[in-house]
Parts: sequence; C-alpha cells; structure tokens
Amino acid sequence: MDRLLITGGTPLSGTVRVSGAKNAALPLIAASLLTDEPIELEGVPELADVTSMLRLVQRIGTSATYVGGAPGRVRLHTPTLLAREAPYDLVRKMRASVLVLGPLLARGGEARVSLPGGCAIGPRPIDLHLKGLERMGAAIDLVDGYVAARAPHGLVGAEIEFPQPSVGATENLMMAACLARGTTRIVGAAREPEIVDLALLLRSMGARIEGAGTSVIAIEGMARLGGAAHSILPDRIEAGTYAMAAAITGGRLRIENAPLELLGAAREKLVEAGVELVETENGFEVGRANGVLEGVDVMTRPYPGFATDLQAQFMALMTVARGAAMITETIFENRFMHVPELMRMGAKITVHGGSAMVRGVERLKGAPVMATDLRASVSLVLAALAAEGRTEINRIYHLDRGYEHLEKKLGAVGARIERVP
Ligand code: EPZ
Repeated sequence: MDRLLITGGTPLSGTVRVSGAKNAALPLIAASLLTDEPIELEGVPELADVTSMLRLVQRIGTSATYVGGAPGRVRLHTPTLLAREAPYDLVRKMRASVLVLGPLLARGGEARVSLPGGCAIGPRPIDLHLKGLERMGAAIDLVDGYVAARAPHGLVGAEIEFPQPSVGATENLMMAACLARGTTRIVGAAREPEIVDLALLLRSMGARIEGAGTSVIAIEGMARLGGAAHSILPDRIEAGTYAMAAAITGGRLRIENAPLELLGAAREKLVEAGVELVETENGFEVGRANGVLEGVDVMTRPYPGFATDLQAQFMALMTVARGAAMITETIFENRFMHVPELMRMGAKITVHGGSAMVRGVERLKGAPVMATDLRASVSLVLAALAAEGRTEINRIYHLDRGYEHLEKKLGAVGARIERVP
C-alpha cells in the first residue's frame, strides 16, 4: 500500500488549480443513463471514485470514452440498458453507486441495487431515497441485501417531503422525476451546489426543473430526455482544503477555478480564524491576515452551512490556533476518526459525543499516522505540512478517492511530500 512521507514546516506559496467536483461528477455520470443520446462532460476529475462510477455505468450499458485525449473530457452514451443492476462489490466500495437507482427505475422500469452498507463515518441509510421512490409509485423490496425496485408502468410525479436534507436522496429523486408522468415536488431538498450543477445538466437535456438550490424543487416529467454537453462545477471541498493548507503553513496560495462563494459558511469561519481571503478574477488568494490563527467554534450544517466535508480539515487548522475551538459534527455519527491520529502528532483534543474541543498548541510533531476515510486523511496531510519533522501517512488510497494529483499539486507549491509504495 502506498504511503505519503511529508516533512513539515515550509510555508506553501504559488498557485493551485481546483479540479472538477467529485460530488458533482458522480451524479452527473448517473444522469447519463436517463437518455439514449450522448452526454459530454468536461472537467471530470481523475479520481478512484469517478473510475468506479464509470465502471458501474459501463456494466449497465454505457460506452464511456475520453474525448480528444484531454483527461477531463468524457463522452457517455447509453443507447440501451443492458443491465439494471449495481452489484455489491461495486456499491460497498462506493455508496454513491446508489445514484443509479433513480435513473434505472425511470428509464428501465426496474433496478436491483445493493444496499450500500455502512462506511467508516456512519451507517448511512438510504431510507429517504426508497420512501421517495415509493411515493412515485415504485414497488421496493429488500432481498438478500439488495434493493429490488420495480415500476413497470413508469413512475408518477408526487409530493415528497424530507424530514432532513439528504444530498443523495435529492439527486436520486430529481433524476427519477425527470421521466415520471406529471409533476414532482421535493420539499426539504438539499441545497448543495452539486445539486444545482446536476439540475443544470438535466435542464440542458430537456428536463423541466425549478428551484434547484432552494429547499423546494419542482420537476415536470418528460417523455424522454436528449443529449447535452456540460462543464463540471469546481470542487468546493478541494478549494477549502487548499485554503486551509495555506493558512496552516503560514503561506499564501492563489486558488484558481473556484469562486469564493462556493466555500459557503466556511468562508466566514476562516476569516474569523484570522485567514485572509481575497477574491480574484477566477478564484481567490488566501493566507494568514496577521500571522496568528484564532480558535473559532464551528458546527457542521447542510449547505449553505459549514460543510461536514471540511470539518476534519478545519480541526487540523484549529490544532495550531491560539485559544480553543469547539467543533460539532451534526451530519454524520462518527466523523472524528482523525482525532486520535492528530493527537499522535501532539494535538490537544477532547471529544464529547458529537463535539470535539480543540486547544491550540505551538507546534505539532511529525509521527506515523493512519488514514481512515477520505476527509480525515487530508486533515492529516494538513497537520503534517505544519508539523515539525517528518510524518508518514499510511492507507492513502482513501485520499486517491477524492483529491486529484494531491502530492503533485502540493509539491508544486513548496510542500516536501513524497509518495512511496
Ligand atoms: C453526500 O453524501 C456527499 N457524497 C458526502 O460527501 C457529504 O458529506 C454529504 O452528502 C453531506 O450531506 C456525495 O455527494 C457522493 P446525505 P450523502 O444523504 O448523499 C442521513 C465525501 O467525503 N440519511 O446528505 O450520502 C445520512 O446518514 C462524502 O465526499 C438518512 O438518514 O449524504 C447522514 O447522516 C462523505 N437517510 C445525513 O442524512 C437517507 O436516505 C446526510 O446524508 C439518506 C441520508
């Protein structure tokens, strides 16, 4: 298994270009199942999760080809559905595979998708996906760990109310509703930018969608959808991660291809912590405002609140801030696995239920640590960049799921980072 060796202490400086968003690319690839015409996506990031999703739709009947050699352009074409199944061996590795459920039901009238099972950060049920599809007339059975869904006479538009926002359920139901008979209203929908990006693609395919990005989305079903070309939304989590890499190392980075407002509430929290963010024509410049970082309390919330996917990175930043920071995770049940690893590097953190109290220290010390999930892994990278001495991070396949060319991008701005097999 690959490891990362990082020698900390160098303030980063230079330019980082943000890639297309993983959490936009995955539903966009699933959306290509909704039509028998070609879909062309630009800015597709080279990530393990994207490769998994492409492999899944290829098994279903999609031809996926890189266009014109440029790695980021992918042409997806599904003339007919050859299979209607997402098998366990694929879904257990990447739960976003459940996003083929809505499109398969809508276009093919049936789907057999493995229940994702839990993952490191929590049980992550899909009850909201299934209840919504039932409201639209699907018959859902759970058989041998699989969801067996049928809608032989097609789906029917319905009023669906979520008790809490769910990104995946909103995406699955929005895609299913595009080919349903009649109008669907999703009340209590998630408002993440990736949902707006998916609605953009669907509308360019001919779908009628209003309200994406708000908590009420109305979709008028169509008989069919056509082909389209779409450029993928930049990755706000990657942008936030590199902003914190600049701040934690006391350096200054120019982040390209990521508008500042994509950071949502993280922008204000970073400013409160003493980070300066200056808008540029296609991104922003970021560094410490006056050399010192201040402890700031944060609570993760659905967008536009502070993103749970930036919680671990912000915690790393707070370990070397002045004073204390209370970090509360409200979205997932078990998203503090970076805590014991950060403590091995000298961080002072105590966890009580869903809250972690971080007390800033002068310097972290390099140590061998273990990556456990995607965002926890990158928080260890941030800590290692600021720590004294050398850190070895094991199990970095987690990182490859969500950060395109991480060590190349960091190396290009001065980080002493090396991947060793
Ligand atoms: C998406 O996951 C993202 N993944 C996650 O990013 C992100 O952390 C999450 O949204 C934020 O909400 C992708 O977009 C591929 P949810 P998703 O449905 O859709 C509960 C990363 O690191 N819930 O919004 O799975 C669920 O357990 C990943 O890139 C139900 O109870 O998240 C969680 O507590 C991690 N029933 C909460 O809702 C359901 O049917 C939010 O989950 C669905 C979800």
